[in-house]
Amino acid sequence: MTGSSGYAEQAARSQGVAHNARVWNYWLGGKDNYVVDRKVGDHVTGMYPSIGDVARADRSFLGRVVSHLAREAGIRQFLDVGTGLPTADNTHQIAQRVAPESRIVYVDNDPIVLAHARSLLTTSPEGATDYVDADAHDPDLILEHAARTLDFDRPVALMMLGILNFVLDTEEAQGIVDRLLEPLAPGSHLALTHPTLELGGEANAEAMRFWNENAKPPIRARTRDEVAGFFGSLEILEPGIVSCARWRPGPDDENGPEVAQFGAVGRKN
Ligand SMILES: C[S@@+](CC[C@H](N)C(=O)[O-])C[C@H]1O[C@@H](n2cnc3c(N)ncnc32)[C@H](O)[C@@H]1O
Repeated sequence: MTGSSGYAEQAARSQGVAHNARVWNYWLGGKDNYVVDRKVGDHVTGMYPSIGDVARADRSFLGRVVSHLAREAGIRQFLDVGTGLPTADNTHQIAQRVAPESRIVYVDNDPIVLAHARSLLTTSPEGATDYVDADAHDPDLILEHAARTLDFDRPVALMMLGILNFVLDTEEAQGIVDRLLEPLAPGSHLALTHPTLELGGEANAEAMRFWNENAKPPIRARTRDEVAGFFGSLEILEPGIVSCARWRPGPDDENGPEVAQFGAVGRKN
């Protein structure tokens, strides 16, 4: 595991301001959050009541995408950037259920995610997991660390769920995606989710303004066209760029609400 020392001190210092990883954990019904996170989380829910649905739909999308990639596309390597706090079904558990030899590298820059990273490292004996404490704004560092566990000559699924919305400049976000995809073998995939003000998410605009004044890191929404741009020349799989709740829904998802969070998967040919 790669990480900075003193994370407990960093985590303690960050208790004064709400942080995304912990508030996301709160919306998902987790316990790894502080009073300040719950206060901001509740306030955002008051302004934008479907935020809890967004968080749950996003995690459900993650489960379906990892299963699809492992089962149908034969992917055995995952680079999960913006991992979030561990939940019941993390990328490695889903992938290794299908293929125990799967190798997963997690990346997040939040000290509390680092503090809980141990439960992301419970790999099957045949596979491997690693955790990298790094900022998505530094793709070269991510690739350098990921290369210790992943073989870039074989396909990798680059998972960027709910993370590019924290890279405010679209050109920079595009540069990060392009750089991370660049060394990956043909057959690699990009999976992402991203909040939008389209799909009925207009109420989210006020909530995002509140978030940006009261919590970290600052966030933004993007349009379908902007999200499509991240896929560049990748072949976007069916059903395209849709509400993540509507991306190949399973029986449990079909009656769930459509959420204002795009989800899509593309293949590098
Ligand atoms: C909305 S959560 C999404 C978690 C998970 N991917 C999911 O879909 O459930 C976003 C995560 O990205 C992390 N994050 C935000 N900005 C980041 C950055 N610049 N570098 C690395 N991680 C970041 C946060 O700490 C948080 O854990």
